[in-house]
Amino acid sequence: MWVPRFSEHNQPMYLMVAQALEQDIARGVLVGGERLPTLKALAAALDVTPGTISRAYEEAQRRGLVVGEVGRGTFVSQRPAMRGDAPAAEGRLDLPSAQLDLSVIKPHGAVLESWLREALMRLAQSEDLTRSLDYAPEGGHPLHREAGAHWLRGALPEARWQQVVITAGAQHGLLVAMNGLTRSGDLILCEALCYPGIISLAHHSGRRLQGVAMDEQGILPEALRERCRQEKPALLVCVATCQNPTTAIMSEARRAEIAEIAREFDFLILDDDIYGFLAPTPLRPLASFAPERSVYLTSLSKSVAPALRIGYLHGPPETLSRLNAMVRSSVWMPSPLMAQLATQVIAEGLGTQLMAVQREEAAARQAIAAQVFQGLQVRSQPNSYHLWLTLPEPWSCDEFALLARANGVTLLSGSQFFAERSTSTRGVRIVLMSPTSRDELRFALTRLASMLASAEPRLYY
Ligand SMILES: Cc1ncc(COP(=O)(O)O)c(C=O)c1O
Repeated sequence: MWVPRFSEHNQPMYLMVAQALEQDIARGVLVGGERLPTLKALAAALDVTPGTISRAYEEAQRRGLVVGEVGRGTFVSQRPAMRGDAPAAEGRLDLPSAQLDLSVIKPHGAVLESWLREALMRLAQSEDLTRSLDYAPEGGHPLHREAGAHWLRGALPEARWQQVVITAGAQHGLLVAMNGLTRSGDLILCEALCYPGIISLAHHSGRRLQGVAMDEQGILPEALRERCRQEKPALLVCVATCQNPTTAIMSEARRAEIAEIAREFDFLILDDDIYGFLAPTPLRPLASFAPERSVYLTSLSKSVAPALRIGYLHGPPETLSRLNAMVRSSVWMPSPLMAQLATQVIAEGLGTQLMAVQREEAAARQAIAAQVFQGLQVRSQPNSYHLWLTLPEPWSCDEFALLARANGVTLLSGSQFFAERSTSTRGVRIVLMSPTSRDELRFALTRLASMLASAEPRLYY
């Protein structure tokens, strides 16, 4: 008879039994179709009530590990859903009838759910929960800020918890830094093709936004210098790694040059490094080239889960009171409960594991895109969640996005990313991580490629 063995008693019994089941299935101790002990027998072996075992089997069933058959007992599933499973196995084409979405940059959700479910349960059992039920002090609870500093040190070794400000995600971090560090009417510079969240923030807060010309490494130093000669900006917002939308990655030499220009013309830098973990090889963040005038920003949305809504700003000491004031006036404080969950995810190493899983999934999806889009003008990175496709003549980006939508695929036209209306592009942004499976992605990309192969870019109603 199968009896679970526990090395330590760190969770409620029913969770420990479910966990042991999962581990023994993964190790091959239990195989698909095998019958599990009856509630009574296992309860007697573990000296607990049959109710506890019933709860454990329910939990295992919910995780897809076992199936219960009325009157026959509980059996190991023929293909139990395991944690290490590829997030979206090939060969499971489950085509949705609705629109295929290639428009939202997010981590792939398959592994996330079961991992986070367990993290939430541990949080519910933990004494740390108490800390998260009250208002937090300015900047966030010191323990939550230390977790943030620990997370940031992966990219920014000099990060100190005293300089960390917790935000409700990176979009909120952008709002806090852009509004806290500039005044109404100030000039903010950004990439010519830029994340729409930055554009809408500038417009809603009465800041003037100008885009700087780019190449495959992002902002061009000469173009930046030229803008600064015309008028001194207050702030440069920059996404230096896997830039949204172009996927440009700025070399360290270019980062050093941009930092030098910031010193020369005396403006601040907001280094939005939300995609930093997707760089093919680690790069020193832009902020570290001019730490005295740079605010570093990241969040857990792309690496762990968008719904966590926790981000971290790291600023020079002189900026902290302005950043904190803006957090207070915008949301009073990001949810301490979510900050505690983020702290736990970081402390337990789950965040780092998830980042690695997501990088791998992104690489597999980039390989599919490279195959389907062979011969087309694609700009991308090996682990980027998205790519930038320059359309062949005579397509325009708006026309293509419209026609793709009519063909069941949603993506964003390059015109959505114009920092200034005068910009032009024939590019579209295609996100690879949003489809639920790799096969679904292949299907959507093939549909786009076949649209491009057709001679006539026309939409017939
Ligand atoms: C460059 C960039 N910054 C910030 C954000 C916002 O991230 P969050 O979901 O953490 O608010 C995004 C989201 O797509 C982004 O692409």
